[in-house]
Amino acid sequence: MSDDIRAQTIYFIVTDRFHDGDPSNDGGRNPESYDATHTNWGKYWGGDLGGIVAKLDYLQGLGVGAVWLTPVFDQVDDTTDAEGRGHAAYHGYWAKDFRRIDEHLVSSPRDIAVFRSSDTVFDRMLAEMRARGITLVLDVVCNHSSPELRQQKGALYDDGQFLTSYDDDRLGWYHRAGSITDWRSERVVQQGELCGLADFDENVHSFRSYIKGVMKDWLDKGVGALRVDTVKHMPLWFWQEWVSDLRAHRPGLFLVGEWFQGGCYDAASVAFANGSGMTIFDFALQRALEEALARSLYDGFLAVDRVFAADGLFRRPTHLVTFVDNHDMPRFQSVGATARRLEMAVALVMVARGIPCIYYGTEQYLHDDTNGGADPYNRPMMDRWDTQSPLYCAVARLARLRRDNPAIQRGYHQPRWLTSDTYAFERGWGACVCLAVFNRGAARSIGPVRTALPDGDYACVLTGRRIAVSGGHVAKLDLASDDVLVLSHAVVEPPVPGTSVTFQLNGYATQPGERIAVVGDAPELGAWDFAKAPLLRYVSPNLWEGDVGFERSAGGLVRYRFVVLRDDGPPTVETAYPRRAYVPPSGADRRSDRWGG
Ligand code: NOJ
Ligand code: CA
Repeated sequence: MSDDIRAQTIYFIVTDRFHDGDPSNDGGRNPESYDATHTNWGKYWGGDLGGIVAKLDYLQGLGVGAVWLTPVFDQVDDTTDAEGRGHAAYHGYWAKDFRRIDEHLVSSPRDIAVFRSSDTVFDRMLAEMRARGITLVLDVVCNHSSPELRQQKGALYDDGQFLTSYDDDRLGWYHRAGSITDWRSERVVQQGELCGLADFDENVHSFRSYIKGVMKDWLDKGVGALRVDTVKHMPLWFWQEWVSDLRAHRPGLFLVGEWFQGGCYDAASVAFANGSGMTIFDFALQRALEEALARSLYDGFLAVDRVFAADGLFRRPTHLVTFVDNHDMPRFQSVGATARRLEMAVALVMVARGIPCIYYGTEQYLHDDTNGGADPYNRPMMDRWDTQSPLYCAVARLARLRRDNPAIQRGYHQPRWLTSDTYAFERGWGACVCLAVFNRGAARSIGPVRTALPDGDYACVLTGRRIAVSGGHVAKLDLASDDVLVLSHAVVEPPVPGTSVTFQLNGYATQPGERIAVVGDAPELGAWDFAKAPLLRYVSPNLWEGDVGFERSAGGLVRYRFVVLRDDGPPTVETAYPRRAYVPPSGADRRSDRWGG
């Protein structure tokens, strides 16, 4: 299996609402926090880690390569907030101990102190995931602990030992700036309290050391990747230090930050995605998909394409995490999508650039439309496990396709047909190509549609429908109403020999006919000969990427820079003092450079 996260499909689970593997833990420390009837949406409903383990075969069948669970940390036990409403911390975002697991999730009290042994249910879950090639994405929160309940606000423990609380802040870890009132002020958003949640002060060194130490312990336990909550609420410098420390501990660690409503239309979120070391969730694409396919707004696919057309804003657009809905917004069907439109949207994110994340139950069309499906009605109990449901089967097929076709993982995005109702786009990486076509309007014929697919006869990955490509075109495509077509051509490229170094170049606005190579002193880099320098591949107007194998130079230093080659003129050599890079003796490494930098 590829260890590139972009080959995977993520599945996001609100653990309490997935599967109750052990009814004996349902009451937790405060039986009031549990509702066996599943009618009080603010209480625990019984899902747990045992329930996750029991359903791993189901997830493996779906083709899932990574599972993101809502935070597992021990939560406040109280259910009454300052306004007297009953809300339990079933969602996991009100931590009271980052080194313990919440008692609702485990079966034995011993398993709560998860770092004191290595045979807890959490360890067993990790082992079962590993056996199925599934990575655990842990949801972590650094911005805050808990809100004002009957218990102390922000009471925080470390593996059971009291550390601090908002009212007895002996460590000075909390901000005291009141609620966030002015959302336009970066300072207020970062220092104020979100929904009354006690807000950590990142300037305090002991807090930073603590929150880094804790997260490293979870990585050492076997957690494979992190989903990071509320990143908009802490300064960029904090995240840079935090990510770089975690990466020093676990090289190559994948992290995705939740910048609520972030994406190409939010400049601060773009700066975060480009500068923090984490990628972000693509809320801009989510909104465009919702408008086009759930709300059927006039702009349709024009709005969707506008998001992809802005990919040049990002240094790594193919690492954005894409989704059609999540636990902080109504589910897709609750805002007007038919089952078919949901299938279309899911198919689109499965083949588009970015790493797709499927919200639990989507494959079973799970939704509850009470109050427009807003939180908490977007978190129903999973009630069906049908491995023959059309969407379960479609996700399984497309997840396999994503694993098999590098064009989907890391390739360019090229529109091939675009109207508000019909969208054809192509992904390409070397000889690998995937052409996807979507039609939300009435049945129609389109064509000729240009394609980089080699001439031949193709079967749609979803339906088996046969389509001919000839002379670099599909001559005529008959599309039904709400149709989806996915054609794929994947070749297996031999792995590069020796140490594989991925070169990523940003910041050169390429013109048609230009190619970019990496040239350097090593023989693998052409020994400064442009004609022998390995070529990178075009991904976006701001990104070229390529893998270079190092055998003779592995374990040593190389010097390099980039050069633009063209058939009809002299090369443009980067004016930059050559960079120096150490090539590890084996394995894989990644370089990330800016033209001229
Ligand atoms: C974002 C999470 O996704 C949301 O569900 C949670 O309530 C807030 N952050 C606060 O942690
Ligand atoms: Ca349970």
